[in-house]
Amino acid sequence: MSSRTAWPLCEIEASSADLVEPVRRRLGWWVEHPAEHARFLNTLALMEHIGSRKIMVSQTKGVLSQEILKHLAEETRHSFFFKRAAEAIAQRTLEFNDDDALRPGAAKMYFGRLDASIAQVLPADVHPEVPYLYVSLTIELRAIWTYELYQQELAARPGRFSLKSVLAEEELHLSQMVDRLHQLDARPETLVSTFAQREDRLFRGFWASLEQACERSSADAAA
Ligand SMILES: [Fe+2]
Ligand SMILES: [Fe+2]
Repeated sequence: MSSRTAWPLCEIEASSADLVEPVRRRLGWWVEHPAEHARFLNTLALMEHIGSRKIMVSQTKGVLSQEILKHLAEETRHSFFFKRAAEAIAQRTLEFNDDDALRPGAAKMYFGRLDASIAQVLPADVHPEVPYLYVSLTIELRAIWTYELYQQELAARPGRFSLKSVLAEEELHLSQMVDRLHQLDARPETLVSTFAQREDRLFRGFWASLEQACERSSADAAA
């Protein structure tokens, strides 16, 4: 972790400290249950895809710079990475529906509400890149937090794939978002903790919905 990104990561580590153990436990459970693991990976593919589409849509008014196109391409590649891993486990094509993914509607709602909640705080005349930068920064924080736990669970079991290259790119995105916000004089230090707290509430709701989906499929399997 570089010193430029240590402070926003500290925000999420503090606000989500009590989530570490339950999330870690569920990630480990997925790694040991292939059919459910494939659905979880397909859900991550959906979320990375929503993230990349969001970047594209958010820039219709702005200058689509080389840096933004690179970010877009990398999020699309993350979606491909998770989709490929999901289908390698499932041994079939997976759709982004309730059978093949975990609560895809809740995943879409998480992104939609986060977007709206960030837009609410920013002034209407803000630079067109700023909403994109704050939404991305906030999502990168959660992605890094989750993928670090997930990577530890994968590494603890032999023969699993590695998330290290995805994680390295998410960390780079985070520092790029911070740098660009500084360049635009948006003073990220003043707003990141507000956005991280809002995201924390939305993530808790989303995670509870994933837990319910897992409990439901465990109950169905036992019936
Ligand atoms: Fe990503
Ligand atoms: Fe990213």
